[in-house]
Amino acid sequence: MDEKAVPPPHVLIFPLPLQGPVNSMLKLAELLCLADLHVTFLVTDYIYARLQRHSNIQTRFSSYPGFHIRTISDGLPENHPRGDKFLELFESLMTNTKPLFKDMLSNGSLGSRVSCIIADGILGFTCDVANQIRVPIFYVRTISAACLWVFFRLPELIQAGDLPFQGDDLDVAVKSVPGMERYLRRRDLPSFCRSADISDPIIEMYKAESTENARAYGLILNTFEDLEGPILNEMRTICPNIYTIGPLHAHLKAQLAANSTSAPPAFSNSLWEEDRTCMTWLDSQPPKSVIYVSFGSLAVMTNDQLMEFWYGLVNSGQKFLWVIRPDSISGYEIPVELSQGTRERGYIVGWAPQEEVLAHRAVGGFLTHSGWNSTLESVYEGVPMICWPYFMDQQVNSRLVEEEWKLGLDMKDTCDRSLIEKTIKNLMEVRKDEFLLRADDMAKSAKTSLTEGGSSFSNLKRLIDDIKSLSA
Ligand code: UDX
Repeated sequence: MDEKAVPPPHVLIFPLPLQGPVNSMLKLAELLCLADLHVTFLVTDYIYARLQRHSNIQTRFSSYPGFHIRTISDGLPENHPRGDKFLELFESLMTNTKPLFKDMLSNGSLGSRVSCIIADGILGFTCDVANQIRVPIFYVRTISAACLWVFFRLPELIQAGDLPFQGDDLDVAVKSVPGMERYLRRRDLPSFCRSADISDPIIEMYKAESTENARAYGLILNTFEDLEGPILNEMRTICPNIYTIGPLHAHLKAQLAANSTSAPPAFSNSLWEEDRTCMTWLDSQPPKSVIYVSFGSLAVMTNDQLMEFWYGLVNSGQKFLWVIRPDSISGYEIPVELSQGTRERGYIVGWAPQEEVLAHRAVGGFLTHSGWNSTLESVYEGVPMICWPYFMDQQVNSRLVEEEWKLGLDMKDTCDRSLIEKTIKNLMEVRKDEFLLRADDMAKSAKTSLTEGGSSFSNLKRLIDDIKSLSA
């Protein structure tokens, strides 16, 4: 058969409808487009409306004729808080979205036949549907391998008596997660583990994960071997076919640079409007003098916590760039002293172009909620971190940042102005050189993984080859 007559594989990508997963899976989508695969990117109506409003996704992907974006209902009313009530979102996807998903794949409405599905591994129903219609499926997890490994080990944690526990002694060591015995404490387990009830539906949901993820043909992870090698080796005992292809945001940039002489249009996957004025402010600051503060797309803090951070930041004497998302404060009202009195030392925006901010020469530290994308973006740019995890995987990530990778300081479970001040001074002054050296080393490893022959580079190539051969 004439090779030119063989249509390219048609991959359907279905992310979990939250900022972090949509962000990284759009990057995966573009990497596959660059390899001439056809991609249908499936998002919920809610996410699509936000992308339409705040991102330039259509312009960005207009140069890929094989890229299409399609929408599906998440079954929730317009005003539902979604990410804030994740279990309700998850249950609605299982009940309401699953039949629509099956219909969509069976009724020919996606144009050419879908030859392969790449779905978020938490959307287990996609594997049922893929098996019914006999289409190979890969899972993607957009969290760290470390946190995923803890999810995999939930049955053993329960069996070993590490779960459940009451909230009183959070510093007890946890020994039932192989590869993490040296540093894991109860405090560092995903936040939902603090529930005293092991039949809590959220624990049940995550317990089902290991079985789910092992059902797919392969598991794609946004990480790199030098960062999480020991944990990945443990995980391969359950899921042998793992593709580590991260950090995805940088992998995409590297492949775009290799594929083109002209820069592609600047791109934002953001679900909020970016305030780019902060870049001009950063331009006027000395090298490595600014601490960037952002708690991601979901974290919500109280007014009291906001004020503790404000005093801590101002008293530290460091310059800061602070993202305060309009929906991130309960009873939101930025106090006057904060919006007006801060200008000399700090700059506040509602949403920043974070990747660019972290790459800016003026940024010397990142006070973060330890979401996985933020962590990887910081690792890649060699920016040391102060971690203030909010929930879920962030509790695990922050422990690795301090204890395993030595890339910063973990401030979980505290919110006190004098401790915040002291921790910022430690990161930005007292232990600055030590952290910058470590961060620089890890950033080099991240960059090496993306060059020809590097682990993430080779794994992406293997993934594309496998998609092609499974689609033939
Ligand atoms: C959620 C979970 O909370 C997180 O723990 C999990 O790892 C992924 O899903 P989120 O709060 O969205 O994460 O954090 P994160 O994963 O760090 O993603 C936030 C993304 O928004 C990053 O890519 C970051 O660059 C971007 N961002 C954040 C901006 O572009 N501008 C901002 O001002 C803040």
